[in-house]
Amino acid sequence: MTTKYTYLKDHDAPIKVLFTGYLCTVGIGYLFALIQILFTHGMADGKFGLSVDDIVYSYYGNRSGTVLEQKLNGSMKDNAPEQERFKIMEWVRDGADSDEYKDDGIDKIIESRCVMCHNKEASGLPDFTKFEALKALTSEDTGATFASLTRVSHVHMFGISFIFMFVGLIFSFAETTTTQYKCIAIGMPYVFLVADILSWWLTKIHPMFAWLVILAGMGMGVSFMFMWVTSILEMWLFKPVFIDGLGSRYLQMRDSTDASIADRFWSYAQALGRQIKPAAAFAKEQWLTRGWPVVKDWLKKRS
Ligand code: HEC
Repeated sequence: MTTKYTYLKDHDAPIKVLFTGYLCTVGIGYLFALIQILFTHGMADGKFGLSVDDIVYSYYGNRSGTVLEQKLNGSMKDNAPEQERFKIMEWVRDGADSDEYKDDGIDKIIESRCVMCHNKEASGLPDFTKFEALKALTSEDTGATFASLTRVSHVHMFGISFIFMFVGLIFSFAETTTTQYKCIAIGMPYVFLVADILSWWLTKIHPMFAWLVILAGMGMGVSFMFMWVTSILEMWLFKPVFIDGLGSRYLQMRDSTDASIADRFWSYAQALGRQIKPAAAFAKEQWLTRGWPVVKDWLKKRS
């Protein structure tokens, strides 16, 4: 078999160091991203850990309450003691009136508990020194706004596609994975990335799609891990893993003559691909001989 590329293990040390440095940095970045998800979306329902409810509350919103109440029960829970949070929520339930704001002493609570973070200087956070900013958060919680979704969507698509560009490029020099599996592992993150972003918008419209957010996120994670681990192992631990270790058994399985699931999938896909051209020709033929004349007649009759 002639090879058209240099195997990962055969690259020069400087290139390996470059690849490894990149993979490690991106890997740590991925971990931080997961931690961030835990702390923002994960707290949306007030309980630690990510659940379908969290996703629904984040994108669709919790339509049975206001943003202020959700936050006071969620990620802002630790910023004020129980009775003070209760007082704020009571005031919200009573219509968030501007007179009662002073009379009930809500202004004092906000000033002492919240304004140290929620002030003019804090960009991105609502400024609670202004009553209007607080009042705006006392209407129904409809989740992420379309404006914020647009922003996060394009940032994610540009940013994450770059990460997978380089991780995929490095992984494409791997030799232990067959071409079919490589194509799947390299292509999958892009499919899931688009599905992920799409699912945020769908969840904004209907909470049913929250499961798609989780599925797409997991798909991206799995393909990232697979490419990451394979690349690192091949570069630095080829002999202990793939020749002397567990990996050798995997290679035996890979090279056995039994058709693997991927092989069968691949041949179905190829067979399907071969049908596209005749199918298109057939469709065109049908349209020209049957479809178009009918439409033409119909248009003629109308004019
Ligand atoms: C230690 C700093 C800090 C304190 C104190 C704090 N917050 Fe926050 N608040 C944040 C951060 C950071 C965010 C954005 C992340 C999030 O939504 O969890 C936020 C977000 C919010 C939001 C959501 C804003 C939006 O536009 O979605 C509300 C509502 C809120 N806080 C209310 C409060 C209230 C009420 C208090 C006082 C009891 C308070 N916060 C105290 C840091 C703080």
